[in-house]
Amino acid sequence: HDTKVYDIIISKETLAPDGFTREMYTINGQFPGPLIEVNKGDTLVLNVYNDLEDETSIHSHGMFQRGTPWYDGVPGQTQRGIPSKKSFAYEFKVNQSGTYWYHSHSNAQYIEGIVGPLIAYDPDDPYLEDYDDEIIVLLQDWYHNDSNPLLAAFMNPANVDGDEPTPDNGLINGKNSYNCSWAPAGSKCVSDAPLALFKFVQGKRYRIRIINTSAFAEFIFSIDEHPMDVIEVEGMITKRHTIHRLPINIAQRYSVIVTANQTIGKYWMRSEMETACLAAQSDHLNPLVKAIVEYEGYDNDGDPKSVAWAETPENCVDLDSSNLKPYNEQNIPDVDYKLIINVTFHPDDNGIVRGYINNSTYILDAKHPTLHKVFNNVNEYPADQNVYIIEKNKVVDIILSNNDDGIHPFHLHGHVFWVLGIGQNGTSPDYKFLNTKDPIQRDTVTVPPQGWAILRFVSDNPGVWGFHCHIEWHVQSGLVMEFVTQPDKIRELKAPYEWEQL
Ligand code: C2O
Repeated sequence: HDTKVYDIIISKETLAPDGFTREMYTINGQFPGPLIEVNKGDTLVLNVYNDLEDETSIHSHGMFQRGTPWYDGVPGQTQRGIPSKKSFAYEFKVNQSGTYWYHSHSNAQYIEGIVGPLIAYDPDDPYLEDYDDEIIVLLQDWYHNDSNPLLAAFMNPANVDGDEPTPDNGLINGKNSYNCSWAPAGSKCVSDAPLALFKFVQGKRYRIRIINTSAFAEFIFSIDEHPMDVIEVEGMITKRHTIHRLPINIAQRYSVIVTANQTIGKYWMRSEMETACLAAQSDHLNPLVKAIVEYEGYDNDGDPKSVAWAETPENCVDLDSSNLKPYNEQNIPDVDYKLIINVTFHPDDNGIVRGYINNSTYILDAKHPTLHKVFNNVNEYPADQNVYIIEKNKVVDIILSNNDDGIHPFHLHGHVFWVLGIGQNGTSPDYKFLNTKDPIQRDTVTVPPQGWAILRFVSDNPGVWGFHCHIEWHVQSGLVMEFVTQPDKIRELKAPYEWEQL
């Protein structure tokens, strides 16, 4: 196995991803950030240099960090932030494969460009012979304002309903066009910025890895006239499952196989923002984000004339993730602990609407990470850190009840969980109807409005692991908790000096 080393320089640049010019963050001057590629079993080194004025961090989303919990990249939980003009190296073994991503875990920074794809290849992937080439599609919502003022307006008593900032646009691989007549007077904006372009060769089969790196938006992804076979969900290989449209929530990933078996031509790739999730409806937002798929050998400058799946609903199959089946047989252990988690939103004493987990809202303390406290033998944690200690290797069910009327994509660090059940508004969790035979495993699950989810994981990875709604605004407003798993085992690990000193 190899060691793969990547330099990650985070800096501020002036760019116009969708034709609207703004100052934003880049990695090595690029947006989205560079592709990080490893093979299962490799060691990955991320040499991060922080060229920003603010602290930053890099979290490798979905990586287990087994034996290296200090490299999970979460200020306040697993590390102190990387100071301005300083370097910090993350180094960990990747004993897993699949489609992942990396992002800043500091404030709401990642929504301004600190995101990129992370792919771990498996030489024994059972689908290797079933595709000829790979394509990465990174989806995201996009704001034209800096995250700090957006955050200040969101976390403000004047925002009585707790409405999240509405995105200005959406991007595919960092590109889209924008209607500049919507841009504020005086902005630098070009209306016909180029869309992302993907090349197909007729007859070839593509593994398309789709990653939603949004702050707020769920998307429905599709390619006109090309069905997709889902084969992977967040590192878990699934049985082939044919669909036409793929709902993908924040931080979720899928691989699909698409065969270029249509007439040589141009086709729309569509990523439709679910506007129902937007608290404030905006007439300055085009929720349909597009890119172009062009077959080699086609030379015609016009736009694609292809037809969306949505226009023929009787023939259109959207993914229902409960229909996905694991490729390998699952042996689901029985539960040891049941942890009930209630999600609510209400104003705090200052009138600021915050997110609550079991009536406690998370207050970030970036200077005093929980993992430092564990090494210092602290056994009690501040109530507003929402710490849940799991002493031993146990099977834990998170029974999550969403008492809010928004959708929440919940993510668990350092693990995957089996999705035993998801329930809509009007139902309540019932163990009789859970799937304990062949559920999928993933690290980010969509919990429906006023609905619930039951997630089973094994606490076999000593460390401090965040569990939070991945809507970036909700991370900031406190919808976060952390598991301290096997603290005695954590203390047997040897944390690196550079990490302690950070
Ligand atoms: Cu994508 Cu707390 O992570």
